[in-house]
Amino acid sequence: MADMSVKIAGVSFKNPLIVASGCVGFGREYAELYPLGELGGISTKGTTIAPRMGNATPRIAEGESVILNSVGLQNPGVDYFIKYELPWLSKQGTVVISNVAGSEISDYIAVCEKLNDTAVDMIELNISCPNVKHGGAAFGTSCEAAAEITKEVRAHCKKPLMVKLSPNVTSIGDIAAAVESEGADAVSLINTLTGMKIDIRTRRPILKNNTGGMSGSALLPLAVKMVWEVSNRVKIPVVGLGGISKWQDAVEIMLAGATAFQVGTANFTDPYAPIKILSGLEKYLDDNRLATVSELTGKLRIWE
Ligand code: FUM
Repeated sequence: MADMSVKIAGVSFKNPLIVASGCVGFGREYAELYPLGELGGISTKGTTIAPRMGNATPRIAEGESVILNSVGLQNPGVDYFIKYELPWLSKQGTVVISNVAGSEISDYIAVCEKLNDTAVDMIELNISCPNVKHGGAAFGTSCEAAAEITKEVRAHCKKPLMVKLSPNVTSIGDIAAAVESEGADAVSLINTLTGMKIDIRTRRPILKNNTGGMSGSALLPLAVKMVWEVSNRVKIPVVGLGGISKWQDAVEIMLAGATAFQVGTANFTDPYAPIKILSGLEKYLDDNRLATVSELTGKLRIWE
């Protein structure tokens, strides 16, 4: 059987599948269905310095092959995470990635400093949440702001630092290069694409926030293209996400240049999707006589 392990920024993952931030909470509900130790990693819900109640409801809307969310970073805060979630999560036998969010650079720094001496394996710096008035994507949509926050956080963060990028930009390659130049160890992309869904009876947006972040299988071609673009631009590892719901999608995103990949929205329609994707990927590697999953990374044969 092929070797499924991958390494990102010195962290060893038993396989390249990470469940994506915001789609599995802190893992407890999914652990009732399968051992989290079967996953390469889990990225937790975006965690902020203080607890947040999130945006007003409705904050989920469904479309064809997509959902829109405007959750607004609801989470119990970093102290609660460290005290009540991390002790359990760190014993599940999977890599723990803490997705860190905030309104100000000082918030991000404060969360990372609290996580420095914990069992968290890696930070995913969320500079791409489209649903908050302050911070979030504001840091991830200009090269200057993305570079500045990465530099400041890097100076205070002892953990490997992966920066999560927004697709709502003119050049995601430029943003990736900017965060790499300031010390990011890896990048993950893409976060959600901004969108709006309208109730034609009331003529109002369904989301109380008016707009939200779109995710789901319709996003896959955009994610694949952006992973390809970024992996040709930076030397640090790229973690691909956006619309991955089956093993074939995982193969595509790795061929485009991803070292590992995240599965998000697919968990809502099929909570066993990660397990099915892993077994399909293993079979594909064996059928194609590949000894390691890493042999897929960047092996796209582009037309000249
Ligand atoms: O609204 C939210 O909590 C979404 C976060 C994100 O997209 O990073």
